[in-house]
Amino acid sequence: MSNKKKILIIQPIHHAGIDLLEKNSNYEFEIVKNTEINFLKSKIKDCDGVTIRTSKLSGDIIHAASKLKIISRHGVGYDNIDLKSSKEKNITLAITATANAVAVAEHVMFMLLSISKGKNMYDNTVKEGNFDDRNKLPKTIEIWNKNILIAGFGRIGQALIKRCLGFEMKVFVYDPFVSKEVIEKFGGIKIDNINEVCKNIDAISLHVPLNENTKNLINYELLKTMKKNCIIINAARGGIINEIDLDRALNEDLIFGAGLDVFEVEPPNLENPLLKNNKVFLSPHTAAFTEECMTRMGIETVQNIIDFFDGKLEESKKIKL
Ligand SMILES: NC(=O)c1ccc[n+]([C@@H]2O[C@H](COP(=O)([O-])OP(=O)(O)OC[C@H]3O[C@@H](n4cnc5c(N)ncnc54)[C@H](O)[C@@H]3O)[C@@H](O)[C@H]2O)c1
Repeated sequence: MSNKKKILIIQPIHHAGIDLLEKNSNYEFEIVKNTEINFLKSKIKDCDGVTIRTSKLSGDIIHAASKLKIISRHGVGYDNIDLKSSKEKNITLAITATANAVAVAEHVMFMLLSISKGKNMYDNTVKEGNFDDRNKLPKTIEIWNKNILIAGFGRIGQALIKRCLGFEMKVFVYDPFVSKEVIEKFGGIKIDNINEVCKNIDAISLHVPLNENTKNLINYELLKTMKKNCIIINAARGGIINEIDLDRALNEDLIFGAGLDVFEVEPPNLENPLLKNNKVFLSPHTAAFTEECMTRMGIETVQNIIDFFDGKLEESKKIKL
């Protein structure tokens, strides 16, 4: 019997990560695309480690594993993994903590600028032969000198503030777990109450985890207090903004626009009204899908497994269960 560690790669990752396993004689691996629960239960049975992207790793699947020691998340959010079962089975959960903050922060700037500048309006005008319409088009908006609120000041929030300050925005930060000193060192202004500040905010970007405290953080009551020119970006997790409330607020012109990379249900239901709302700019949970970031995530996902079995996995990459 082989004494190689067996790794199950659930959902393909960048070949740069696979190369690490191919070159290491301590490991064998299998890549699976099928994420159906009974299939995964049969595959995970004798595995020592598993990598997982966005598909669900339920308690049922985790309990079917007899040897599993590490779950390595390709990404940083872990709301798709049953934490209770992982803890019961004393399994380590690792994330790609250093891989994706910059890519997500760039995606937020892309969405913010795209909405402020009218997305494809100018491009279409020229390509359709309507250059002379330039004076008739709606005016776009500057982000210079505007107030942005960053909710959640972890890896991505801290990458985003640098980009916002580069555009000379004034940055307010809402994160009860990060001190005023740290926020000020980054050039931000700490706020304690999100409800009080929203009436003065021109843009909001969400970077909190999804949990019982953050679900529906942005709801109709709060949207009613916002400036009419406010743009909201959610590249964190669906459900942090209440989608029905957001659609209503946009239709009532309570805010200017929204950029969403994530949805309460993914893929979103085609009946979801936000898919037809032209004040919304969407992407299919691809904020981290740059070539560079996918390479980094693929490598870090696998390296975390190798480091774990070598007894070298850094504490900052482990989630406390
Ligand atoms: N769209 C994507 O592809 C993508 C990629 C990576 C991460 N994400 C998501 O982005 C979010 C942030 O990721 P990160 O790597 O910056 O995480 P992080 O853990 O480094 O930071 C999260 C921050 O949120 C703060 N926080 C927690 N609860 C809060 C609350 N109730 N109110 C305000 N702040 C609170 C924490 O103190 C922490 O500073 C996560 O939801 C993650 O799932 C999405």
